Amino acid sequence: MKVFVTRRIPRPGLDLLKKEYTVEINPHDRVLTKEEIIKGIRGKDGLLCLLTDPIDKEVITAEPKLKMIASYAVGYDNIDVAVATQQGIPVSNTPGVLTETTAELAWALLFSVTRRIVEGDTFTREGKFKGWAPMLMLGQDVTKKTLGIVGTGRIGTAFALKSKGFEMNVLYTDEQRNEQLERELGAKKVPLSTLLKNSDFVSIHVPLTKATHHLIDEKEFHMMKKTAVLINTARGPIINEKALVKALKEQWIFGAGLDVYENEPEIPMELKNLNNVVLQPHIGSATVETRTKMALMAAENMSRGLKGNIPPNCVNKEVFLRKSTT
Ligand code: DGY
Repeated sequence: MKVFVTRRIPRPGLDLLKKEYTVEINPHDRVLTKEEIIKGIRGKDGLLCLLTDPIDKEVITAEPKLKMIASYAVGYDNIDVAVATQQGIPVSNTPGVLTETTAELAWALLFSVTRRIVEGDTFTREGKFKGWAPMLMLGQDVTKKTLGIVGTGRIGTAFALKSKGFEMNVLYTDEQRNEQLERELGAKKVPLSTLLKNSDFVSIHVPLTKATHHLIDEKEFHMMKKTAVLINTARGPIINEKALVKALKEQWIFGAGLDVYENEPEIPMELKNLNNVVLQPHIGSATVETRTKMALMAAENMSRGLKGNIPPNCVNKEVFLRKSTT
């Protein structure tokens, strides 16, 4: 069987695939267009894609042989899973292996903003440091402050647990109670408005869905403390970027740390011009160890799916239920 891979991923994953399948990899070091993906999957049984690929109805239905879609990411908002399910195609993701890595980046962003690390680095390199000064680069303490976590799935929970050393008061929103956080941190489940009004730091960890699109908009920014810091390592469209620019420019909040954007890779110039925001190029899971684990996991999912088995990280298991009843 043949597999199309939309971008070169760490070698151990590709080697695993090559043991069993004929593998064709995007030869360019760039994101493919939809037309190129459609061309790439021609005659292929499997598609290994990235979060940057628009895997919509047109792509999914383009190749009748297509039997498996393995994504090299945990978030799969770029894939029309409903269409894949209708077509009887399993879709898989890479949960778990990137949890701690993404939570670590959220903390790195939180400290970068509160202690003005990027501004301080630029200031120092530019030769502006003329010696210790009482009012130089004043930031904010983290210890004993209130941490608000929007969404306590795997990454939100890992992020919250890492606050232990900072003796923080933890608030969270989620559809379900998170007993682990309540037990280990004394965390309280509250409505989003309560969380926004009371948190010093708000970190977003919900998946992007219709319900979470623009979850944080002008109204929500107005609820936040003037000293609040907002961190987003989830998906850009969860925050209305225009409202965020306004909130940062007019200092409704202290600052923001972002790894994701509304229209990646576009970032509004207005956002880039602000110094109370730290910007990263969507690197939440970008460590050697984690990206290798993601590659192996995606390859393993692909291999199981192409053999007609339920891939270990299948997000539409109903495909198999349907198969077993027909
Ligand atoms: C994911 O896997 O969804 C992450 O955004 C990758 O960094």
